[in-house]
Amino acid sequence: MSEHITSSEAGGEPTRRDFLYLATGMAGAVGAVSVAWPFIDQMRPDASTLALASIEVDISSLEPGMSLTAKWRGKPIFIRNRTDKEINDAKDTPISDLKDPIARNANLPADAQATDVARTAGQGKENWIVMIGSCTHLGCVPLGTSGEYGGWFCPCHGSVYDTAGRIRKGPAPMNLFIPQYAFTSDKVIKIG
Ligand code: FES
Repeated sequence: MSEHITSSEAGGEPTRRDFLYLATGMAGAVGAVSVAWPFIDQMRPDASTLALASIEVDISSLEPGMSLTAKWRGKPIFIRNRTDKEINDAKDTPISDLKDPIARNANLPADAQATDVARTAGQGKENWIVMIGSCTHLGCVPLGTSGEYGGWFCPCHGSVYDTAGRIRKGPAPMNLFIPQYAFTSDKVIKIG
């Protein structure tokens, strides 16, 4: 009885069948690499996404009583330099009169009360208010210096916000949200 031994089993040159196995293994490895790259690439945020993670806004041209709207992560951001009257009107409002007594300020603890100062850039900077310009009812963009309280008014379903962006009337359940932000200088606010 004769025994068939291939040359590779015998320790010699690889046979044609050995070579085909090797070639297939290589192709598989290359294929796996070329699939992995685009996948990893998609997970990496591109430069424009990183740029939008935070923005810097020059507020040097805003005199008291003036506002601007910036865009951050696809949302409007209201920045207002409030007048003394607007500040005092908001300060004179007792918390018990508010529909939403929570500050909704991402820079403060989640349970901070919605005092006027807690809605602003803080002591000494109470004139500055920075808010996400999206009605807390269904997300319309409210109009500034409008409505019964001289703050913001959402024309979609009639929500009325005061001069500290706190909901006072209408269907919106919460005060306008305040994003994370900081002054990087007297003239520049960094949002995000
Ligand atoms: Fe503003 Fe409905 S979306 S009141």
